Amino acid sequence: MKKFNETSHFLEQRVQLIQSGSMQFQMEALPSGDYTIRDQVTGECMHSTIGPWVEAQHLYIEQSQLAHRLEESHSKPLVIYDLGLGMATNALAVIDTFYKAKKKRGIHLVSFENQLEGLHYALQNAELLPFIQKNQSLLRTLLKKRTLELQCGDAFLRWDLKGGDFPQSLRGSPLADLIFYDFYSPQSTPHLWTMNCFQSLLQVAQTPQVSLHSTQQSTQLYTYCSATSVRAALLLAGFYVGYGVSTGKKRDTTVASTQWRDLRKVLGDEWLMRWSRSEKPLPLDCISFSKIQLAQKLKSMIEKQNEAF
Ligand SMILES: C[S@@+](CC[C@H](N)C(=O)[O-])C[C@H]1O[C@@H](n2cnc3c(N)ncnc32)[C@H](O)[C@@H]1O
Repeated sequence: MKKFNETSHFLEQRVQLIQSGSMQFQMEALPSGDYTIRDQVTGECMHSTIGPWVEAQHLYIEQSQLAHRLEESHSKPLVIYDLGLGMATNALAVIDTFYKAKKKRGIHLVSFENQLEGLHYALQNAELLPFIQKNQSLLRTLLKKRTLELQCGDAFLRWDLKGGDFPQSLRGSPLADLIFYDFYSPQSTPHLWTMNCFQSLLQVAQTPQVSLHSTQQSTQLYTYCSATSVRAALLLAGFYVGYGVSTGKKRDTTVASTQWRDLRKVLGDEWLMRWSRSEKPLPLDCISFSKIQLAQKLKSMIEKQNEAF
């Protein structure tokens, strides 16, 4: 199996950029009239054509029903993982929801990022990014102290920043309730969309309660990505997996959970058919496995989902 060595691969490209005198990041105007950042190393923009703020609201905040969750009375704060921080759009959208919520549960927001230069670059271009402009001092405090606390009424929001490479940086993290999985695409960073990565997340996920009437104590993961290999990786890791809302040019996105009841529409036989016809059906860490055995495993996962549903 050809192993994807992330560190040397990206390091080489960064060195080439520096040698050619180019910058790693560039501001990019989107058809919506908004701006995002393009990373020259991966060649990818941080956001889709609908713009960063709309994407954050639609895909992560509304889909996870964050405002509603904050109204539930609970003694423990809601733990949200923000993977990766990038230009902090999703994180700032969480904070905005926290301030606007009527009744408030506390939040513990944990952002993960291995290259803070992206956020520094966003701050340098704050005049093009209204949500960055509005929150400059907050972001500078986070970058400097790596942790901060906000208070609104009786409720607190703690925001921690974990540097370093995911998934190693997960060590010591609190159990997650919501995961906003927003890394670059599997084409650029296949090592972040593997069965192993998602298994690492299951180690820090809430264990579903056995009671049929319980709606709590589960972990949901939201991502823009709808790649067949990513859905296969999530299933093989042990998540229940379903379709998420459509966004921009994407017909659908992906929602995964430790509890099937959280999913609006689970992947079914139609997805299994698509998987069997797919040219790229396997995550990076499964390409040396037997496709027949994987097909059987996926089939049993899909059957389990169907039965539960
Ligand atoms: C699509 S951007 C995130 C956009 C961000 N969620 C936002 O709301 O603006 C992906 C981010 O993941 C970060 N990243 C890539 N590989 C990583 C890794 N192994 N560990 C932590 N962060 C990583 C990138 O540096 C980049 O900032």
